[in-house]
Amino acid sequence: DWNMHNFTESSIKEIKEKVGNKKVLCALSGGVDSSVAAVMVHKAVGDQLTCIFVDHGLLRKNEGDQVEQIFKEKFQMNLIRVNAQERFLKKLKGVTDPETKRKIIGEEFIRVFEEEASKLGQIDYLVQGTVYPDVIESGTDTASVIKSHHNVGGLPEDMQFSLIEPLRQLFKDEVRKVGEELQIPEEIVWRQPFPGPGLAIRVLGEITEEKLYIVRESDAILREEIRKANLHRQIWQYFTALPNIRSVGVMGDERTYSHAVAIRAVTSSDGMTSDWARIPYDVLEKISNRIVNEVDNVNRIVYDITSKPPSTIEWE
Ligand code: XMP
Repeated sequence: DWNMHNFTESSIKEIKEKVGNKKVLCALSGGVDSSVAAVMVHKAVGDQLTCIFVDHGLLRKNEGDQVEQIFKEKFQMNLIRVNAQERFLKKLKGVTDPETKRKIIGEEFIRVFEEEASKLGQIDYLVQGTVYPDVIESGTDTASVIKSHHNVGGLPEDMQFSLIEPLRQLFKDEVRKVGEELQIPEEIVWRQPFPGPGLAIRVLGEITEEKLYIVRESDAILREEIRKANLHRQIWQYFTALPNIRSVGVMGDERTYSHAVAIRAVTSSDGMTSDWARIPYDVLEKISNRIVNEVDNVNRIVYDITSKPPSTIEWE
């Protein structure tokens, strides 16, 4: 796509001129927008860019390693991965209310990010993966507005940076084209949306290691099967949630009393409204069988067949 090619080239040039020999910081989540923005800035200023990737322990299976592998090894970027799993889990202990969970994660994210950033000396610029719909949503065009509501990347207001927002004029499909132009791997460019608070809002109620294990493993199986069935580009989001209910089942001669896992898969164009995805029965059957067989302490799978509204995409 020549338009996107030209856009990419001229943006890189612009960033280079703007930054000069100053240092740039980026909060990298591995999501499409922050990844494309970071790679673009990296092309422009190389090692003057440092990315901080906060692993809060609420990511999907292998996600942290994958981000590290792609950005550190493939792109040779200056990436600091902060393994903050224990910190986050400790803060979330005993917390059951969904909004409280979000708030705790958002605040802790900022704290961890600030701690790391303060070790880096003078930084003048901050990269943000703001896209055009964010600009409209925030209702203002001033560069100082940082979207904090839906992204855990909401950053401290008192940090003194100028922003670099190379994707401000683009829609999601254009961001993906730029990503392809920059040779960012498909796993990132075509990644489904993933909420900042991560698996914390897919484990209903209190978060424990065991529940995180169930949701992470079942989600990995679901993703693998959706991919095999070649449905991954048609479905907007697909994941499992743990409703925190146990029910009775039978295994061999024994009665079990284990968790139910919910499959959520939706089609959508922007996440504002959605319909449940009509995954073929044979694919659902395979997913169900694999989850109960491969994930400990699960004996029932249910399929969420509600649209948004009245439901939301996530369960919390
Ligand atoms: P809902 O559940 O409100 O989700 O229908 C709409 C879209 O937003 C994502 N989502 C979040 N993203 N932080 C985020 O960064 C959040 O707290 C959050 N809650 C929901 C959700 O995955 C879907 O794409």
